[in-house]
Amino acid sequence: MSGSVITGWGTALPEKVVTNAEFEARLETTDTWIVERTGIHERRFGGTTSGLAVEAGAAAITMAGLAPSEIDLLILATTTPDKAIPATSSTVHAQLGCSGAAFDLNTACAGYVYATVVADAMLGAGIGFKRALVIGSETLSVITDMEDRATAVLFADGAGAVVFEHRDDAQPLILASDLGLDGSLLSILYCDHGGFMKMEGREVFRRAVRATVESALKVLDQAGVTADEIALFVPHQANQRIIDAMTQRLGIPQDRTAIVLDKTGNTSSASIPIALAAAADAGRLSDGDLILFSGFGAGMTWASAVVRWGQ
Ligand SMILES: CC(C)(COP(=O)(O)OP(=O)(O)OC[C@H]1O[C@@H](n2cnc3c(N)ncnc32)[C@H](O)[C@@H]1OP(=O)(O)O)[C@@H](O)C(=O)NCCC(=O)NCCS
Repeated sequence: MSGSVITGWGTALPEKVVTNAEFEARLETTDTWIVERTGIHERRFGGTTSGLAVEAGAAAITMAGLAPSEIDLLILATTTPDKAIPATSSTVHAQLGCSGAAFDLNTACAGYVYATVVADAMLGAGIGFKRALVIGSETLSVITDMEDRATAVLFADGAGAVVFEHRDDAQPLILASDLGLDGSLLSILYCDHGGFMKMEGREVFRRAVRATVESALKVLDQAGVTADEIALFVPHQANQRIIDAMTQRLGIPQDRTAIVLDKTGNTSSASIPIALAAAADAGRLSDGDLILFSGFGAGMTWASAVVRWGQ
């Protein structure tokens, strides 16, 4: 038997806290509307995608007790790269001092789960990779129209990183996964080069709940586990009402759900690793616990996985 284990994690949030009151002061919105319709109280703006990724990645590598050069696979999930060319993972690879391969992966808010599944498959493929760093990092404030109340209050910046190490004696990390996409829905959430995000909020909401619940139920079934056996559900942090609809339909109570949305807003591919790290730091995870990840995003993409924490 062989598999990957999670040995380190880290996060990075820009220093600048932006409260709902700041939007209330200059847009036709209120703190009450934002909290009731989204669950978001504040978010962070600032930094660069590579800078936040380096900070989160360095913390994860330090926790794993590794030298950066021991990382031989770096996958950066992002939908807000610093430049068109080269991939932002090139900057992160150089600044951290990693070895081996690095690439960006863009499946929007499903990016971290996609990247985790890809990293685990590459570590297990016997093609030479031993230690992977998976980072979700975003600077969505750059592509958000701050005059558009329907999106400005939602999206924000941040990064989360996780180190995976392949071990010959470990159990499989991923019990089941489901990666998917419906490209016919790309017009409900997109951003042209040099422009701002355009979103049909209500339609995204509806599709997101349906896609993630179906996907999560599929991986639970494939893994042969019930919702009761999930120690921690880590959903994409887009809207508290979407999370509520998911937990209700999956039958997972809020005390077994990781939520950071109230303080971070929607950080796209960074949201799941930030929520995971916060739960781990709070001592909410023990060796052998089963975690359910479920994310959705522009594309429309979705991704779910049942993952074993620790040994
Ligand atoms: C965006 C979202 C919060 C809007 O909430 P909603 O309850 O669906 O609201 P609606 O879109 O139906 O809009 C209702 C009204 O609120 C208004 N509204 C939108 N944003 C507002 C804000 N910040 N403050 C006050 N009113 C707002 C709308 O303009 C609309 O007004 P109208 O009826 O006069 O046209 C919600 O649809 C949502 O979260 N969708 C998913 C978005 C998402 O997760 N995207 C990322 C995917 S990874």
